[in-house]
Amino acid sequence: MLELVFATNNAHKLEEVQAMVNDNFVLKSLKDIGCTDDIPETGETFAENAKQKTDYLANKYGLYCFGDDSGLEIDALNGEPGVYSARYSGSRDMEKNIELVLSKLAGVNERTARFKTIISLYLNEKQHFFEGAIEGVIIDELRGTSGFGYDPIFIPNGYDRTFAEMSNEQKNSISHRSIAVGKLADFLKKF
Ligand code: IMP
Repeated sequence: MLELVFATNNAHKLEEVQAMVNDNFVLKSLKDIGCTDDIPETGETFAENAKQKTDYLANKYGLYCFGDDSGLEIDALNGEPGVYSARYSGSRDMEKNIELVLSKLAGVNERTARFKTIISLYLNEKQHFFEGAIEGVIIDELRGTSGFGYDPIFIPNGYDRTFAEMSNEQKNSISHRSIAVGKLADFLKKF
């Protein structure tokens, strides 16, 4: 069995990934290894941010690990909010972040966007990246109450409901995060 640290304290994310990787891997959270540090996230891309997490854990603890970074890229806003998705308005208040996005898109016809996740994996002294993306459009109102973040304003292509109008199960079956995690799990299965 090989221990892999997932650079997260989100128990739900950890469980979800553990269920997808084979039993040869035991996943640990940051809390499990006693890491309470505020790991820097100062990159200009999702990949840089994800790699910052694994570099930090590899350097400080010498452990094999993976970390993810996600966000929303809107074409008409040159890819914003991107790496600033969590604090686009300057605060973590998602109502304010969504309000800012909708005000910037007022009167804009080009509404294409995508959610993206990049996973950085550090294993056997090697660095690997896995990407998941889902294309869609940003609507001009909030619809639905499930999910989190920008879910109420994002409709994935081929659907007529926002992520926030879908069950968790349905969102998870098509989401950027599940695509990236699926690639990570496939890689670890073959390892
Ligand atoms: P994280 O890297 O997974 O923590 O995501 C960073 C930010 O991107 C979150 O705080 C959300 O604002 C946004 N985001 C990432 N994934 C999703 C999603 O599945 N739905 C809605 N917003 C998301």
